[in-house]
Amino acid sequence: MNEFFQNWNLDPLKLPRHVGIIMDGNGRWATSRRLPRVAGHKKGVERVNEVTEFATKCSLQALTLYAFSDENWRRPEEEVSALMSLLRWYLKAERNKILDNNIRFRLIGDRGKLSSDILALASALEQESAGNTGLNLCVALSYGSRGEILRAVRRVLEKIESHELYPADLDEQTFEDHLDTSGLPSVDMVIRTSGEQRISNFLLWQCAYAEYFFESAPWPDFTSEIFAGLLRRFSDRERRFGRTPEQVQQRVQTDAPRAATPIRLTSVKGS
Ligand code: FPP
Repeated sequence: MNEFFQNWNLDPLKLPRHVGIIMDGNGRWATSRRLPRVAGHKKGVERVNEVTEFATKCSLQALTLYAFSDENWRRPEEEVSALMSLLRWYLKAERNKILDNNIRFRLIGDRGKLSSDILALASALEQESAGNTGLNLCVALSYGSRGEILRAVRRVLEKIESHELYPADLDEQTFEDHLDTSGLPSVDMVIRTSGEQRISNFLLWQCAYAEYFFESAPWPDFTSEIFAGLLRRFSDRERRFGRTPEQVQQRVQTDAPRAATPIRLTSVKGS
C-alpha cells in the first residue's frame, strides 16, 4: 500500500469508485461570519480544489460536484451572477491544473440555460481533457436529475423514431448511455454537507445503490480530514445489493447489479 493510503488510514480496495457531493452551506457559513453570501461560495471553491486533489490522490474514478442546480436560477440575480462569475473564473484558473493532473473534465446539466462564454470554456476543457485517464471530474451546473432523465428520454425517442434503436432493445444500460453521466460508474457514495438530509434532485438514477453520508460541517469547512473520515466510514459499510449478508461475504465489495460491468468511457455528449 502506498504512503498516501497508509498516512490517511484508507484501504484503496474499499473506496468508492464514484463520489457525488452536494456542496451545501456556503450561504450560512458566510452569514454566520457577517460576510456576504458570495464569500461562502468563494471559500467553497477552495474546498472544491482541495477535495479534487484528494480524490485524485485516492485514485477515485469519478467525482461529481453539485455546483448549481436547476432550481438555483430562482436565487436573487446578484447571487446567480456572482456564482456564474466564480465558475467562469474557476474554468480559466484551474484549466492547467486539471490538464496537468490527468483529470477528465465534464459538465453535466442543462447546457441550454448557460451563457455562451461559460459553455465555450467548459466545452473546450472537456475536449482538451477528453484523452485523460485519471479522475473524471463532473461539475453539475444548471443541473436537475429529473430534467436530465427527460433529456435522455427525448434522445432515446429520437433514436426510436429514426429506427436507430428498437423499443425492445431499450434496457437499463442503453438508457444510462443517454444520460449526461454516460460512461461513468454508478454513484457509490453521496455526501451532503451542512446537516441537511435531502437529495435535492441530484443524480437520482445514478444513486440507486449509493451510500449516503450527511455531514454537519458546511461546505466551506469541509476538509481533507473530514473527507477521509467519511471514506473510512464508507469502507465499513456492508453493501448487499439485495443479497444476504452470507452471499455478500463471498463477493467483492463493489459488486452492484450493473456496477460490475466494465466502465466504458464514452465521448462527452453535447446538449
Ligand atoms: C449551496 O450552498 C451551494 C451552492 C448553491 C453553490 C456551490 C458552489 C460552489 C461551492 C462554488 C463553485 C463550484 C465549482 C465547482 C467551481 P447554499 O448557498 O445554498 O448555502 P445555504 O444553504 O447555507 O444558503
